[in-house]
Amino acid sequence: MSKKRIGLALTGSFCTFEKALEAAKALMEDGWDVVPIFSDNAYTTDTRFGRAKDWVDTFESMTGNKAISSFVQAEPIGPQKLLDLLLIAPCTGNTLAKLTYGINDTCVTMSAKSQLRNGRPVLIAVSTNDALGGSAKNIGMLLNYRNIYFVPLRQDDPDAKPRSMIADFGLIPKAAQAALEGKQLQPIFLSAS
Ligand SMILES: Cc1cc2nc3c(=O)[nH]c(=O)nc-3n(C[C@H](O)[C@H](O)[C@H](O)COP(=O)(O)O)c2cc1C
Repeated sequence: MSKKRIGLALTGSFCTFEKALEAAKALMEDGWDVVPIFSDNAYTTDTRFGRAKDWVDTFESMTGNKAISSFVQAEPIGPQKLLDLLLIAPCTGNTLAKLTYGINDTCVTMSAKSQLRNGRPVLIAVSTNDALGGSAKNIGMLLNYRNIYFVPLRQDDPDAKPRSMIADFGLIPKAAQAALEGKQLQPIFLSAS
């Protein structure tokens, strides 16, 4: 039997790339073939959390798959049914907004549009300081969209960052299995850490 294939799409929440790497390892242990996908910003931006090229190399060598990093590479995801599940982890406030309003101008939004075109699932692991601010309405809208699921999330620092929320990356394998079966892992909102 062939392996289930998951696209792991990274957007520019650079501080969570390490968590995404751990999630990729856990998914591979669960038998997933993991294909890294990078938003244009994630693919090109060097930050205090590391050099973009180093992150791309790390994900490629760990998963054994070449990263998808352009519109042209992402477009066949739908027509060729390349992915059983698309996971966006981490998902920025920027990408949440684009998904909500149907804006498609990055490799990750192209991947999502292509995946949803066939009624296939998209799983979102939010990481944004404005989850309970500017992004709150977008999360609310996306919760109501067909074939979109969320990795359960929590407020990560209610005192210092009262609007911030982050997905529990440790729950990604469970949430992925649930999304594959057309289910939302519950509870969606976890107690603050
Ligand atoms: C060091 C650094 C860390 C960032 N962390 C976050 C974050 O955790 N969440 C978020 O929504 N945006 C974060 N941003 C802003 C995004 O990178 C920015 O909105 C970018 O346009 C996202 O593009 P993308 O969603 O296409 O990857 C960060 C930016 C920088 C430079």
